Amino acid sequence: MNIVYDQNTQTFHLSNKFVSYVIAVEEDKYLSHYYWGKKIKKVHSPSDYPRKDRAFAPNPDHIQDRHFSLATLPQEYSGTDIGDFRVSSYTYTDITGLRANHLNYHGYSIFNGKKTLQGLPHTYVKLEQEAMTLEIQLIDSSHGMSAFLQYTIFEDHPVVTRSVRFQNNGEEALSIKRAMSMSIDLPDSDYDLIQFPGAWGREREVLRSSLVRGIHTLDSKRGTTSHTYQPFLALVRKDTDEFSGEAYGFHLIYSGEFLGNVEVDSFSQTRVQLGINPEHFEWKLGAGETFQTPEVVMSYSEEGLNGMSRSFHELYQNKLIRGKHQYRERPVLINNWEGTYFNFTEEKILNMAEISAELGIELFVLDDGWFGKRDDDYSSLGDWTVYKNKLPNGLKALSDAIHKKGMKFGLWFEPEMVSEDSDLYRSHPDWCIHTPGIPKSRGRSQLVLDFSRKEVRDNILSQMKAILDEVPIDYIKWDYNRNMTELGSAAPEIMPGEVAHRYILGLYEMLEDLVTTYPDILFESCSGGGGRYDPGMLYYMPQTWTSDNTDAASRLEIQYGTSMMFPISSMGSHVSDVPNHQVNRYSSLEMRGHVAMSGNLGYELDVTKLTEPEKEAVKEQISWYKSYRKLIQFGNFYRILSPYDNKQHTAWIFVDQNKETAIYFYYQIMDKANKPSKMLKMTGLDSEKTYRLDDGRILGGDELMYRGIYLDPDLSGDYKSRCIVLHSIES
Ligand code: DGJ
Repeated sequence: MNIVYDQNTQTFHLSNKFVSYVIAVEEDKYLSHYYWGKKIKKVHSPSDYPRKDRAFAPNPDHIQDRHFSLATLPQEYSGTDIGDFRVSSYTYTDITGLRANHLNYHGYSIFNGKKTLQGLPHTYVKLEQEAMTLEIQLIDSSHGMSAFLQYTIFEDHPVVTRSVRFQNNGEEALSIKRAMSMSIDLPDSDYDLIQFPGAWGREREVLRSSLVRGIHTLDSKRGTTSHTYQPFLALVRKDTDEFSGEAYGFHLIYSGEFLGNVEVDSFSQTRVQLGINPEHFEWKLGAGETFQTPEVVMSYSEEGLNGMSRSFHELYQNKLIRGKHQYRERPVLINNWEGTYFNFTEEKILNMAEISAELGIELFVLDDGWFGKRDDDYSSLGDWTVYKNKLPNGLKALSDAIHKKGMKFGLWFEPEMVSEDSDLYRSHPDWCIHTPGIPKSRGRSQLVLDFSRKEVRDNILSQMKAILDEVPIDYIKWDYNRNMTELGSAAPEIMPGEVAHRYILGLYEMLEDLVTTYPDILFESCSGGGGRYDPGMLYYMPQTWTSDNTDAASRLEIQYGTSMMFPISSMGSHVSDVPNHQVNRYSSLEMRGHVAMSGNLGYELDVTKLTEPEKEAVKEQISWYKSYRKLIQFGNFYRILSPYDNKQHTAWIFVDQNKETAIYFYYQIMDKANKPSKMLKMTGLDSEKTYRLDDGRILGGDELMYRGIYLDPDLSGDYKSRCIVLHSIES
């Protein structure tokens, strides 16, 4: 890994054994993008930006050369209204509202390691030699504004991370209206765009389309990342598939409103940007103040989408997720939500816990309904005291009783919300996000607390800490069940354009406090399922509830999409009842198990109603999973067959680091009469090794990967599955 500035070519070259990223300085003033992709050894000549006198392509003031224009220059961080007519990377104004967007190249520094991003989640290194950072300073001398473009390259990952720090060294306040975390201009547009749109119950669908002229936007204006889009996009070559071909991935480490733009310009260059959504954003930067944007991870793979995903999995597992649970095997849990919804008593919970313990379940999670006077979703959010009608002996007694059965105890919270029917709201009706004087929209009959205000956060924090200090709690499910509207704050010092970002900073501050005060607690993030499944939350909470849709067939699509960017150890996945509560579908217990076992296995049903044979089957699932969960949760994961291709089947494989053991899952979504034969090639194995399959076959890694195996012709019926374990043997 190295970062070199070459005076002759006026280029910065960041490289490691996998990738190179090259930036050129043009006309001593402009930063142009030169290269991002597979490693090149050395940059031999200066930028070869095609200089041409093009009509309607303006030339900057001081340059007499009509061949140079910002309208065509591939750039690193473009300004607004200065002759580049593509989407801009930043906009700021002075107090009179005049745009002042002349940030020009000024200087650089290169150092070992990586700085922390104060108050924001970010990738980190433990040792300085794990990464190097380039910081390029751009300056607007007439306003005293500087932007520091930060680029980090890691020793062991095909990845570059980027972010920007603005600094106002002038004497007047400036107003930042747009501050993208990164922008890059790729030299051509022969790509497909892959994005992950969704909705509640069908998160992160895989959508691949040809890139065409114009601006393609994916965003959130909902206060958080939301179900609607993932702050991730990939550009892949036309022939790229799961196994080979070039793939560029971009992911924003942030949990708030975001914007992703892909613009193909008139000369078939492609600009990609990610950052905070400017829609509701306006940040006053006083004299001497700084503003730090969130970080973007950019990865490059020539091994197709699986290669791209592995680079995100490895980076997030090793350099984003933190704390005691980072590499700890995740417990098999039971969550009572779909088993009881709000309708439970202490006795019911203890009965469920009793049977769960017999089945081998390790953690009991008490979901929504244990606090205030919560019998439905109309009341009590904000009042984090035990609901004695349901739990007359209190939480501590319940937790102790569950611990006595040999299980851990987990609890659900939705700390960011308030119900109008709550003591908190009655005492502080102005503590919610709202625009004073404008009617408030409700979502799930609740309002969002104004976490941009410290006193609001402190109130909730102290209520939570009162419980955590009294009750032995091993796990917290942190839920968030609506989006923000009427973005505003009753606190006069918080400007409307700052509320959304200050909210997220406040949330991060509170999470940092909780995860450092209670390092043993395993946190699982949730937002009506996977509505806030983003790398920002992963920095604080190592796992996420992937979706409220627990139907096995739907989960194939959801988990397939989720695995594109998120490691398996982060994916909560539960076996639930049939007919399924979200789609009314029946699927075999085996298939439900195999889908849930492809993530952090849990159960979400009333176990007291299981028949004896079902209990036996669940026991077996759990004990099997325990013996392979390390490999599943922390091994290498590869997708093989996509549920999106023809809705007929899905397959994936988990392989351990040494390629000694692998677990292959095949799911038959829709069966066919008189099925055509199909070979399935495995991947990720060692071609030199020989493997024994647990159905008795012995095959070489090369045979399994290059020839494949027949899909089981005898697997009959819809929603069925097969699992094959492979162990390497002496050949
Ligand atoms: C939404 C979550 O995604 C569910 O799992 C459950 O916790 C409910 N909220 C409870 O209200």
